[in-house]
Amino acid sequence: MERARRAKAALGERVFVLGHHYQRDEVIRFADVTGDSFKLAREAAARPDAEYIVFCGVHFMAESADILTSASQKVVLPDLAAGCSMADMATFDQVEECWEVLQDAGIADVTVPVTYMNSSADIKAFCGRNGGAVCTSSNARRALEWAFQRGEKVLFLPDQHLGRNTAVLEMGLSLDDCVVYDPHRPGGGLTPERLAAATVILWKGHCSVHGRFSAQCVDDVRARIPGVNVLVHPECRHEVVTKADHVGSTEYIIKKIEQAPAGSSWAVGTELNLVKRLGAMFPDKNVTFLDRTVCYCSTMNRIDLPHLVWALESLAAGQVVNQITVDDDTAHWAKVALDRMLALP
Ligand code: 13P
Ligand code: SF4
Repeated sequence: MERARRAKAALGERVFVLGHHYQRDEVIRFADVTGDSFKLAREAAARPDAEYIVFCGVHFMAESADILTSASQKVVLPDLAAGCSMADMATFDQVEECWEVLQDAGIADVTVPVTYMNSSADIKAFCGRNGGAVCTSSNARRALEWAFQRGEKVLFLPDQHLGRNTAVLEMGLSLDDCVVYDPHRPGGGLTPERLAAATVILWKGHCSVHGRFSAQCVDDVRARIPGVNVLVHPECRHEVVTKADHVGSTEYIIKKIEQAPAGSSWAVGTELNLVKRLGAMFPDKNVTFLDRTVCYCSTMNRIDLPHLVWALESLAAGQVVNQITVDDDTAHWAKVALDRMLALP
């Protein structure tokens, strides 16, 4: 702990540490700003004076920070193994192949690609090049509305649950308006007719952490804790979100509990580091985890105190380690898509 404090103090204003809400307590206490992925992207863009941005989060977030900061700034991810299994479910080649399938079905011209922040920089660049945008869990509805002003259909990457929950529960589309494109099956497993009839084409990706919550978990917690409020992240499955009382990004989840009356009970369906922290922050409220089994995001958890100390001490000694860089062409087009998101009302 002391070593991290000393190295950070030695770097002073040259370093800015960003921490996603799913990070461990031992890491989050050194963050200059904590937030959901949308807030952290804005924070990275708003720190032009920091020579180093140390990103305590996962790889796609650090890539976005590199794209949104100036060429002279360096973004460091304390452990390069901190990836995201959902982001890995959509590769550039697969998305290009999907676009060809849409072209063959005669619908690519009227389809706007929208990718969740949880995707690699080259997927964001694909969206930028093809008239699309990025979204996060806090602005998915606005991004979809933006897309429907520009086209008749949306290709939503890579999280089918966020796409479906937003389209159906927030925008009033029906489940039949949505189809799931499976990159591992020829033609995505869809006929050209089915594709042409759909309004939202959902990529077959999901979050393995949020995918563990089931409708049964909601029923069980309601039976266990009378009057409990069920609050979940939109990466949860549709049947879970449908049964919940409130749904929103990590930032929304925190605000909701902060504003809740003392004595109220909350079952939270998101990553466990955040749920535990909420319980400690608000001891006057009963905050419990929606599932009964342990549910950390193993890749978020890769960033621990030893990795953070190593990154900070290396920077303080003049050595840049684990720098995340995105090539110029990819960064240009990914920034087009990110800027479209940042400009949403
Ligand atoms: P938000 O930070 O947008 O709520 O997303 C959660 C998440 O899964 C990040 O990986
Ligand atoms: Fe990826 Fe899920 Fe972990 Fe978020 S919680 S980083 S979506 S695996």
